[in-house]
Parts: sequence; C-alpha cells; structure tokens
Amino acid sequence: MKYYLGIDIGTSGTKAVCFDELGNSLCSKTEEYKIYTPKPGYAEENPLDWFWATKKAIQFITQQGYDIAGIGLSGQMHGLVLLDQEDNLLRNSIIWCDNRAIKETEELEKNLGKIIKECTGNPVVSSFTLAKLLWVKNNEPEQFKKIHKIMLPKDYVRYMLTGSFTSEFSDASGMQMIDIYQKKYAKPILDYLNIKEEQLPKLKESYEISGYIQKDLAKELGLSENCFVVGGAGDQAAAAIGNGIVSFGDASIVLGSSGVVFSPVTKEQAKHTDLQIFMHAIPNTYHVMGVTNGCGLSYKWLKEEVIKDKTYSELNLLAEQASPLSNGVIYLPYLNGERTPHMDPYASGTWIGIRQNTSQKDLIRSVLEGVSYSLKDCFELLPRTNYNIHITGGGAKGDLWRKILASVLDCNIKRIKQDEGGALGVAILAMVADHIYPSIEDAIQKIIKPLDVVQPDKEWVECYQKGYDLYQNLYQSLKEFYKKAFKI
Ligand code: XUL
Repeated sequence: MKYYLGIDIGTSGTKAVCFDELGNSLCSKTEEYKIYTPKPGYAEENPLDWFWATKKAIQFITQQGYDIAGIGLSGQMHGLVLLDQEDNLLRNSIIWCDNRAIKETEELEKNLGKIIKECTGNPVVSSFTLAKLLWVKNNEPEQFKKIHKIMLPKDYVRYMLTGSFTSEFSDASGMQMIDIYQKKYAKPILDYLNIKEEQLPKLKESYEISGYIQKDLAKELGLSENCFVVGGAGDQAAAAIGNGIVSFGDASIVLGSSGVVFSPVTKEQAKHTDLQIFMHAIPNTYHVMGVTNGCGLSYKWLKEEVIKDKTYSELNLLAEQASPLSNGVIYLPYLNGERTPHMDPYASGTWIGIRQNTSQKDLIRSVLEGVSYSLKDCFELLPRTNYNIHITGGGAKGDLWRKILASVLDCNIKRIKQDEGGALGVAILAMVADHIYPSIEDAIQKIIKPLDVVQPDKEWVECYQKGYDLYQNLYQSLKEFYKKAFKI
C-alpha cells in the first residue's frame, strides 16, 4: 500500500492529511497562523508561517511511520507572494480577502477592462492577484522594482519544498494574468504592469509532477528524496475533486473561511456567466464559482469578537434554540466586502432588526442564515436549476447549518463519507500522477462514497423565502451607505 499527503495551505491554518491509495484518511495535522490586518480592509499573512506550518504538519505525519510517495498542494487562492533576486520575501503576502486595491481595480477596469474580461473570463476583481500587484507598483515602487518572482501561496510552499518555480492552471487562473482559453500568460496584461513572463511560475497541469523534495529538507521532514509534489490546485478546485464534483450536473458548496458555490461548466457556458470563472483541476475544463467572502470568517468573528466564551458546538446548540428568521434579525456577511454577485469592496458586515428582546441565540442563528442567503445569491446564478449538490468545509459539520442551507436553497444537499475536501482532492491528483488510477474521474468514482442527504424543512423553506427577499432588498438599500461609510 502506498501513502499520499494532501496539504491544504488555508487562511487560518495549514492542514496535512495522509491517505492510503484507496483514499482512506489515516492521520492528519493542522497548524494555525495569524492573519494581520494592519488597516481596515487589509489582510496579510507571512509566507514563512505557511512553510513553518507545512513542515510541522509533515513531520507529525512522517513521525507516525508513513512513508509518503507523493504530495499534492491545495492553497488559498489569489494571495500575492513576492521574492527578490536572493529569494527573500519582499513583504508579507497580501491575501485573497484583502480589499485595499480599490483604486487599482478602477484603473485596470478603465484601461484594460475589456482585454482582462476576454482573456481571464472575469471582470477586474480587487481581491485577485493582479490588482494587488498593481497596488504594490503604485504604493511601494521600491519593492516593486526588486521583484524577481511572483507567486501564489501554495506555489511558495512548493518552491520552498522542491525549488521548482511552478504553478498550475486552476490556481493561476485566479491571478487574473493568464488567458484561460489559450492556457498561457496574457501578454497585454503583463505589459501593462511591466512584468516579464520569467517573473511568473511555469504552468503545468494539476496532476503533473512539478518537482521532488529537496535533499536537505527530505531528511529534516522524514520524507524520501523520491517523494514528488504534483501541481495541485487552488483550494476550490481541490475541494471540488475531493468532493467528487467533475460533471456538468454537479455543484458543490464549501462552507470554509469563504463560502463557495462551484460547478463545472462547458467552455461556452464559461463565456456567459455572471459568476466567476476559473479553470478546473481537470485538464481543459472550466468551472464557475460564486463566492461570499465572509462565511466561516463570519462565524469565527462572532465566536472570537462577540460571544467570546463559547466553542463552535456551544454556538450551534444555542442557534438551534432560536427560531427560523432569528426573531427578525438579519445578518449581511460582508465583513471583507462582498464578491459575487455584488463585487463590492465597500460593503460591510451588518446586523439589522435588533430589538430589546433580541437574544444571543438570535444573533448566532442570524449569522448562519445570513451566510446561507449570500450563498443563495450565488446559487441563483448557476446555469441550470437542478443539481446534484455536495457540501463540504468546516461549516458543513454543523447539522443545523446544513439544514438551514438546504431550506434556504430549497434543495437536497448531500454529504460524502470523505470529509477531507481539498486535502483529499490534491492527494487524488498525486495518486493519478503515480498511476494508481488512470484518471481523476476514475479515482473519484472509486474513492468518493455518499454519506447522507439533508432535505429542506417545508416550514423553514417558506420562512426563508421571506427572509431572502428582505436580505436582497437590504443590500440594495445599503449600497450607497456602505460606500459613504467606507470613506469616513
Ligand atoms: C476563491 C477564494 C477563496 C480563497 C480562500 O476565489 O478567494 O476561496 O481561495 O479560501
């Protein structure tokens, strides 16, 4: 039996999971790190923390006696990592949920908007890597001049592990610098920033081997020098593979730090969507994605900044005691602005409907409901109406949240037995690279097994239709206010 590691370099921590070649998860380790928010709207992480966490997690697993044949990396997308000529970090990484690049987004939209949409499939998005890079050019010109290598979070970890300066299409399509239909860097975009292709990683397929663990590290980490690292995937494409989402009628919902609605689409559908569009980790395929920035981050914020003395399980128990619609309280989860459908960096988190008799329980439940409404905003934009929906991510472990979501969407939602999402997805890519399975689809068919189905509750469905109407109106009413409030 051979063993594979899936490593997910996430926003709150890095998780490594060891799988056997049948996809059974054998042991896992998570190491957490800090998000720095030096100013409102800013979000940064130190790439050395990701590498430290990756090393600690690998060491933990190899100390249990597993001889790892290959590694897959999944990563938080869009983060900007900059290295100088000596491979020193030029600054902390500006990560996906950072919203500082508002002026740069406007500048790109004005001067290059059409080309960017044609090449990358998306309008200019402030949270994608391109706008962040332009922010560095405009605001930290001295650092910009020193840039030798530009990379994404998981690709930095790969570079440190293997010395290979490589990315793959699923994550790279979120940089907003590649032509996703031609599968190469988009020259007009690079030219606008005065960036050379040599400063960017080589692009491979997700299941291709990108390098081998460097000798000195192999020893330190308890890995063999033959241990390879595959291209891997952006966290959403990775989670989709780990969730078995490969066909056009499939959709997944990920309740992670961000909340994501994901579905594979044809090239034609990709060209006509109001959702965001990326390459999937399966060669030459695409997927649409709707993202609400503040999903698990909203629940984490509630737990750490508002309620403070309770665990997640305690919060869930309290939310269960509140009734649907949370006694009239509605929460808008825009803690880091909002992505789809509003694409509004000015939007902020909002509670409305609080009265003297509002309880802590109502506030907690309203967060679960508000995030579910924001996912419905994305779900409504999918090209079809009936989907085979799988759910995953930390939030999917909560029975109540799954039931609220099924009722808000008025759809059955399935869970699969394997709940390792992105880590399993990229471990599957490593297994395919090692010829354990002939294709990603074949591996999924053999490994992924159904667990249960949550059905909508009829009474809740009715309530949530009313709640969703109000929720949608609220954003429209508050839009101008958000902009003004941001400016002061
Ligand atoms: C996807 C996205 C997030 C991050 C962090 O576009 O921004 O999913 O990858 O999870």
